[in-house]
Amino acid sequence: MVKLEPPERLGMSLGEAMFTQRAIRRLRPDPVSDEDIRTLMDAASKAPNARNEHRGRFLVVRNREKIRRFAELYVEAWWAKQPEGWSPENAPSGDKHLPPMRLAEAMKDVPVVVLAVSTSPGQAGSVLPAAQNLMLAARALGIGSVLTTLHPVVTDRIHELFKLPPETEVHCCIPLGYPEGRFGVTARRPASETTYYDEWGNPPPWE
Ligand SMILES: Cc1cc2nc3c(=O)[nH]c(=O)nc-3n(C[C@H](O)[C@H](O)[C@H](O)COP(=O)(O)O)c2cc1C
Repeated sequence: MVKLEPPERLGMSLGEAMFTQRAIRRLRPDPVSDEDIRTLMDAASKAPNARNEHRGRFLVVRNREKIRRFAELYVEAWWAKQPEGWSPENAPSGDKHLPPMRLAEAMKDVPVVVLAVSTSPGQAGSVLPAAQNLMLAARALGIGSVLTTLHPVVTDRIHELFKLPPETEVHCCIPLGYPEGRFGVTARRPASETTYYDEWGNPPPWE
């Protein structure tokens, strides 16, 4: 066990990081350094996890051929997740669907993909807090990220591609890279609409 001090390079205020960490799907091909990746992994390692049993693992993929093969599976998984009737030829239009679809097409060119994995099934709760720490730290370093998920249709081939032991489970995949666009304040439903006090449906005492 190690007790790391927070890296000075993560000096951005927590508030700024949390309020401007949006999904960045257009990534420049420029490499992300090992030093930066280490900082992200140190931040991830500090997340809460059940019983402090450390069942979360991160697989950092930078090998171009592996990313190319991962991207093929990601595209297949992306379409498998879409409603019946959708296809590359019959694609939905609109702001909501286009960016994730474009990410699927661009996945083969991203500089880094991180797979967030647990050492046994059903341990998402011990992996996703770490994934969020990783993405907040990435924001602080100016590195873009977006949490994405796969689909069971590709699970076996993902395991095979990355030599994952059969008992492991991939909870999300996070492409990383420097953004083409900008970070910015995220738009979300107000917390007053998603928070109740004391009983379901009771509004909080603030607007
Ligand atoms: C559980 C989960 C699954 C997600 N899956 C995908 C995905 O498969 N593809 C994708 O492009 N974005 C995915 N996202 C990112 C969300 O679309 C994004 O966080 C949300 O739209 C808010 O975007 P914003 O931060 O830019 O406002 C996922 C996010 C979560 C939390």
